[in-house]
Amino acid sequence: MPRLASFLVVLLPLLLSAVRAAAHSNGGFGFKATLRHVDANGGYTEAQLLARAVQRSRARVAALQSLATSLPANVITTARILVRASEGEYLMDMGIGTPPRYYSAILDTGSDLIWTQCAPCLLCVDQPTPYFDPTQSPTYVRLTCSSPMCNALYYPLCFQKVCVYQYFYGDSASTAGVLANETFTFGTNTTRVTVPSISFGCGSINSGALANSSGMVGFGRGSLSLVSQLGSPRFSYCLTSFLSPTPSRFYFGVYATLNSSNTSTSGPVQSTPFVVNPALPTMYFLNMTGISVGGDLLGIDPSVFAINDADGTGGVIIDSGTTITYLAQPAYDTVRAAFVSQIKLPLLNVTDASVLDTCFNWPPPPRQSVTLPEVVFHFDGADMVLPLPNYMYSDTSTGALCLAMAPSVDGSIIGNFQHQNFHVLYDLENSLLSFVPAPCNLT
Ligand SMILES: *[C@@H]1O[C@H](CO)[C@@H](O)[C@H](O)[C@H]1NC(C)=O
Ligand SMILES: *[C@@H]1O[C@H](CO)[C@@H](O)[C@H](O)[C@H]1NC(C)=O
Ligand SMILES: *[C@@H]1O[C@H](CO)[C@@H](O)[C@H](O)[C@H]1NC(C)=O
Ligand SMILES: *[C@@H]1O[C@H](CO)[C@@H](O)[C@H](O)[C@H]1NC(C)=O
Repeated sequence: MPRLASFLVVLLPLLLSAVRAAAHSNGGFGFKATLRHVDANGGYTEAQLLARAVQRSRARVAALQSLATSLPANVITTARILVRASEGEYLMDMGIGTPPRYYSAILDTGSDLIWTQCAPCLLCVDQPTPYFDPTQSPTYVRLTCSSPMCNALYYPLCFQKVCVYQYFYGDSASTAGVLANETFTFGTNTTRVTVPSISFGCGSINSGALANSSGMVGFGRGSLSLVSQLGSPRFSYCLTSFLSPTPSRFYFGVYATLNSSNTSTSGPVQSTPFVVNPALPTMYFLNMTGISVGGDLLGIDPSVFAINDADGTGGVIIDSGTTITYLAQPAYDTVRAAFVSQIKLPLLNVTDASVLDTCFNWPPPPRQSVTLPEVVFHFDGADMVLPLPNYMYSDTSTGALCLAMAPSVDGSIIGNFQHQNFHVLYDLENSLLSFVPAPCNLT
């Protein structure tokens, strides 16, 4: 027996490195996956889909703003680091443990932690799959308080030398439990990879909404996020039309490229650098320089898009979990005024401002033809020319034609409605966001 045990001790690291090597073959590490919209199976009408997404986005924006407005200025900077929004828009399937148990997690570029609800659960939220049971997986290892990943947490706790995490989201959702290492499986059939020793939260006290998923997978810039842990820090996604049931596509590592033959693109690839906001280091801030409507560069003061150095408020982020784009109020007012002056249709007096508020009356057929202005988001070094379906929403039942943007009292958020049918690459190594128009429903 002792001989066998020492044999295993020698063999196990070899076995594990063999798994890693397999994952890294073919010129590098990577996988492909699909993303499912959270409401894809809910049987909602187009108008309901949009209303639900706008409600979730509103909650997300409110979460980002909550601490900034409720705390004294000197604590805002540290407090903002802890603010995250719990709900998301896209789900990714992954396997956890040995053998893998599959579950879907909310993909979130606005937070770092990977977590799922674990058995035995003290306080859990409804989820579609059974809770992960660590006693059934031999690869599960609890992390000690001295482990680097434990120290990467903002609120580490130590219980009998085991690292206990607590993670709070701005909308009062939270998760707490043991920080552990486990083997994860990612990707679809042909690109499936199994990766040992991913640090994740095994949550036994959880609150908030999970949007029909079983946890979250953080893709933020912090060290606990999946993109940071996998050490091949680039990912890309191609989101299908918001109203289409076709799943969207996700690429990691070597597969995350806008130049590959697996993506048919139209137009040149454009790139803009990420900007770091020390008060929100997890999030992907961009340097937005202006907005054009109908060929006119609008007169928006650049300070409207700038990060406020004193407290970290303001700025512009790109976010997987926000649907429509939220523009800082002065920018929104200017865009709205440009639409009102350029669209030759009567402006609707929107009473239900819970949805969209720049709406025009465009009664059902026979419709008068109308010219809609082109919209371009300008970033440092890149112009995003938005296709019409990425900023105008036509409600066929009411005849309302609405601008899919809303005002924000804090910073601006480029939402995912605006990059439908764009292939968007987050390249952390080069600190660049790149994008190119692409028909995302074609594989
Ligand atoms: C959760 O997903 C299941 C299966 O995909 C679906 O039948 C159900 O309606 C969803 N529930 C919600 C609340 O979206
Ligand atoms: C957990 O995973 C991290 C990252 O792969 C690794 O550095 C660390 O040694 C692992 N810890 C244990 C106890 O397995
Ligand atoms: C695409 O390929 C070109 C030429 O090989 C390269 O210069 C560029 O950086 C690549 N862009 C991206 C986003 O990968
Ligand atoms: C944003 O881009 C503009 C134009 O390229 C540049 O002048 C400015 O320094 C950039 N700001 C930041 C914070 O990178």
